[in-house]
Amino acid sequence: MVDFPDNGNLKTGVIMNYDFESNVDRTQSSSLKWDLYKGRDVIPMWVADMDFQAPPEVLQILQDRIDHGVLGYTLPPKALTEVLIERLLRVYGWSVESNWIVWLPGLVVGLNLACRAVGRSEDEVLVMTPVYPPFLTAPVLSGRRLRTVALVQEQGRYMVDDAALRAAITDRTRLLILCNPHNPVGRAFGREELDRISQTCLEKNVAICSDEVHSDLILDDLQHIPTATLGSDIAAKTMTLMSPSKTFNLPGLNCAFAIIPNSVIRKRFEEVKAGIVPHVNVFGYEAALAAYTQAVLWRQSLLVQLKSNRDLVERTIAQIPGLSMNHVEATYLAWIDARELHQEAPKAFFEKAGVGLSNGADFNGSGFVRLNFGCPEATLKQGLERIQRAVQSL
Ligand SMILES: Cc1ncc(COP(=O)(O)O)c(C=O)c1O
Repeated sequence: MVDFPDNGNLKTGVIMNYDFESNVDRTQSSSLKWDLYKGRDVIPMWVADMDFQAPPEVLQILQDRIDHGVLGYTLPPKALTEVLIERLLRVYGWSVESNWIVWLPGLVVGLNLACRAVGRSEDEVLVMTPVYPPFLTAPVLSGRRLRTVALVQEQGRYMVDDAALRAAITDRTRLLILCNPHNPVGRAFGREELDRISQTCLEKNVAICSDEVHSDLILDDLQHIPTATLGSDIAAKTMTLMSPSKTFNLPGLNCAFAIIPNSVIRKRFEEVKAGIVPHVNVFGYEAALAAYTQAVLWRQSLLVQLKSNRDLVERTIAQIPGLSMNHVEATYLAWIDARELHQEAPKAFFEKAGVGLSNGADFNGSGFVRLNFGCPEATLKQGLERIQRAVQSL
């Protein structure tokens, strides 16, 4: 069924059979990313969707489903569950049972459900910052207290500060929300780091929600390690969130899933979800199945393009005095340190120069901006030139 060996990571020598160069006009498509700057000469490089068309194989399956024409209530296709289980085993050596999978209309929903599924009101949820903003809001929206612990930079890499993590856990801490690969710092955490985090959580009886939405976007020769594969005791405390949405550029189709091996946590997760969270829609399921089975080569080609874009961003930022960034191991997001520019609002500064970036302050990272390089190279070059000119003009 699979058209190319799919072992998770980037292969060398992949032939680029797909179009990652065309500039698709998104200005008339109610795009969240593009409509923010409607009518203005600002290149949107903020919210995490890519400016590439979804894989043609996926678009064809969606077209077939439209041709069928009846769009009634839909169950998760049995074939999709089977494909997922087979893939998780093949790519990560993770043996998952079908009843562990809970379908969701998005990861952010999953983050919020995870906060409600463990502990009680006023219990604490811990997150490592800087981090994707919904990690900061989900605990509060769920009636929990947010605690943060900062990642530390060591030799140009963001690392987990084990001592600080341990110190941040109190007797009210019930959950750690982990982002791996990490948005925005681009780390794909290694086995030893993940092991240390998980062992601390085990010891302190803290459950883990592991957001792994970027797991199929590893740009270096590294292996993604699902937290739950570190051991059965860790799996029993972990809710893993995954989706084809980032990888295959399908976030508007709202199809994601949680994997929760522990039946008690899963039951609680289902309870807090019941009657509130909508089902995944028919196109989300169809696209997910097509993506995992037929867009394997597309993903490999995408990784080649993203890696090249990543290298261009890193080379360019390194040449701009006052800006710096760490190496991006995974994701299509660059976390840029603009503190040395001494601008009160770096996002507004770059916006004025015609580039729409994400505001670091929203991630608990004041003085930083996040750049989305999931776009054609020509667009990226134009955005980077504008950044360069803006800094030179200071
Ligand atoms: C780490 C992370 N989790 C979740 C999401 C959003 O997921 P969804 O659109 O499925 O709610 C994103 C989107 O950027 C993300 O980076």
